[in-house]
Amino acid sequence: MDDEPTAGVVGGEDEAAELCARAPVGLLAELTHRCPLQCPYCSNPVELEGVKNELSTEEWCSVMRQAGEMGILQVHLSGGEPTARKDLEDIVKAASEAGLYSNLITAAVTLKRDRLENLQKLGLDHVQISFQDVDPEGAEKIGAYPGATQKKLEVARWVTEMGLPLTINAPIHRHNIHNVPRYIDMSVELGAQRLEIAHAQYYGWAFLNRAALIPTYEETLASIDCVEAARERLKGVLTIDMVVPDYYAKRPKPCMGGWGKGFMNITPAGKVLPCHAAESIPELAFDNVRDRKLLDIWMNSDAFNAFRGTDWMKEPCRSCAFKDIDYGGCRCQAMAMTKDPRNTDPACALSPYHNEMVKLAKDEAAKPATAFVYRNPRNAAAALKSKEEPL
Ligand code: SF4
Ligand code: FES
Repeated sequence: MDDEPTAGVVGGEDEAAELCARAPVGLLAELTHRCPLQCPYCSNPVELEGVKNELSTEEWCSVMRQAGEMGILQVHLSGGEPTARKDLEDIVKAASEAGLYSNLITAAVTLKRDRLENLQKLGLDHVQISFQDVDPEGAEKIGAYPGATQKKLEVARWVTEMGLPLTINAPIHRHNIHNVPRYIDMSVELGAQRLEIAHAQYYGWAFLNRAALIPTYEETLASIDCVEAARERLKGVLTIDMVVPDYYAKRPKPCMGGWGKGFMNITPAGKVLPCHAAESIPELAFDNVRDRKLLDIWMNSDAFNAFRGTDWMKEPCRSCAFKDIDYGGCRCQAMAMTKDPRNTDPACALSPYHNEMVKLAKDEAAKPATAFVYRNPRNAAAALKSKEEPL
């Protein structure tokens, strides 16, 4: 980047300190959309970014420096598959020098031990590995990658042998929900510190595959009971985080901890988003780190200010006692299901769309699963044309 944006130039010292106090905690850096797997539950946008548009090494390193200067604490290096970037080492080094806690979110199927050791030397702090299933055949079917499970187990063992903290990510859907207890056992056996039981969230590719993936209400409740019992049993051994499917909720999740409140996402091409699915809201335009300072985008960009706070809300959120707790739920889900991002998230029982959304989920889950639309460039064009009608 020729003209590197500099954080902290928006005002004087006092203002800079105040801005840093309000800085996001976390930054998700989607280094690339390239990926050796083709998971149908992927939350990446259907329109995948081509390699020629990806930020350069220096542009990503500048992002890391700016993030450190503005007080961001953690960077999650994600994708696609972040190890597909040959310059991952430079980016990790820049993150470490900027004082950021770095987490590599990887499918791990192409990672070599010497590369992982080098990344650790350069400052990598944490590794998160996704397992498509605990059954190798199920994992191959979901990820469309032969031999994935064996390779992932091998890499997970390297991570703990090297003394790096390990998180296992378990993306849950109707094809593997019965294996939640085995995910827990596997995580303990591998010495993971944390397990994410992450029920698929239906944005991006996952939205196209909802009828292929959504579990029944009863299966969902059983998985929640299983996790709650394991949390009790494994206190001090394994931390288990759980994201439940919105479609069966009565109250929405405070998505991203509130829009523009604690998190930012940078796409492979440098667009800065308040959440990974924000591009699904057509009225928003996103600034790019190639054109504008990260701090300026965070503080002043139209996209970040669009749904900050509560002024933008419509009823029933506007006069609801929970509006400062859940921020009206998820804007992208309101967009996907009602075609208006200002509507209450239909996951909320007070939304006029709620009952229809629950019925839709239960009806889809009761039918045989549809075929997967695998996440790959060939399917992207067809998938874009087959968008579902709003409720
Ligand atoms: Fe949350 Fe809005 Fe539902 Fe109230 S009406 S619980 S603020 S989503
Ligand atoms: Fe965008 Fe929830 S995913 S606000």
